Amino acid sequence: MQTGTVTELTPAQATPANSVGQVVAVVSQKGGVGKTTTAINLATALARRGIKTLLVDADPQGSVRHGLGLNSAATKVGLSDYLTGTHGMHEVVRPTNLPWLRVVSVGSVSDSPTHDAYLQQVASSPRTSELFERARERGYVVIVDTPPGLGPVVHRVLACSQHVLVPLQCEPLALQTTTQILRGIRSSLTDNSGLTLDGILLTMVEPGNPTSERVAKYVREQLPAGLVLDTVIPRTAASVEAFAAGQPVVLRSPDDPAAQAYRSLAAYLAGRLE
Ligand SMILES: Nc1ncnc2c1ncn2[C@@H]1O[C@H](COP(=O)(O)OP(=O)(O)OP(=O)(O)O)[C@@H](O)[C@H]1O
Ligand SMILES: [Mg+2]
Repeated sequence: MQTGTVTELTPAQATPANSVGQVVAVVSQKGGVGKTTTAINLATALARRGIKTLLVDADPQGSVRHGLGLNSAATKVGLSDYLTGTHGMHEVVRPTNLPWLRVVSVGSVSDSPTHDAYLQQVASSPRTSELFERARERGYVVIVDTPPGLGPVVHRVLACSQHVLVPLQCEPLALQTTTQILRGIRSSLTDNSGLTLDGILLTMVEPGNPTSERVAKYVREQLPAGLVLDTVIPRTAASVEAFAAGQPVVLRSPDDPAAQAYRSLAAYLAGRLE
């Protein structure tokens, strides 16, 4: 993971040491809508605001490591290894080049041909909630990247979360899958009274493209008022390039409109997390 200059790394403010952190899950019914991109850039932008942030990859695909360009052997162990009990929390919580950002990659499950044991462990092991609780006690804002759909991982992550964000790719038929995920989240809200749906985040919006603008308008009209966040993430070439280069776009191309949008999202969320 590349970071810029030293001054860039100086946090403006730090999360008070005695504050209890919060867990923010990034979930969507559909794959490829920008969950990982959102989790990485939101976590980075929060850390750049001086907020003590922990990015946890709960998706067995393990894309966070690639998106952050984490190549070291140390980041090959992570959540799945913590859940099996072979590694402790201090071994799976890894530092990054940003002082306020730590990361837990998904671990060795991403190299495994099957994910069944991992899915079972996330769902039933007491260590799942323990990891999130311990991170909260240490004052972390925990951003969790999840696999697509409402499977056992997402269910368990939502049971351990205080906030949920739903990226929605701005494309025709976008609303169909959203209805499904909202139904699932409603049932999680019933099970976990401490969970708040922060909103739907429109991603890959193409300003000036009539289809994209029509979809964005339609989604806002169809969903309850206030549910779709004011901040939208534009589709940009710099976002794709940054992901491919293993860097958050907020660091690689800070002036890019998607980077600016992710900073706005972080500012909004930071206000809600206070
Ligand atoms: N704002 C954006 N502009 C352009 N491309 C984007 C943007 N956000 C994400 N992408 C690209 O879209 C693809 C899917 O993004 P990403 O991996 O973040 O989605 P995902 O929801 O995590 O996918 P999965 O469900 O497979 O985990 C990636 O190639 C990514 O670079
Ligand atoms: Mg992903």
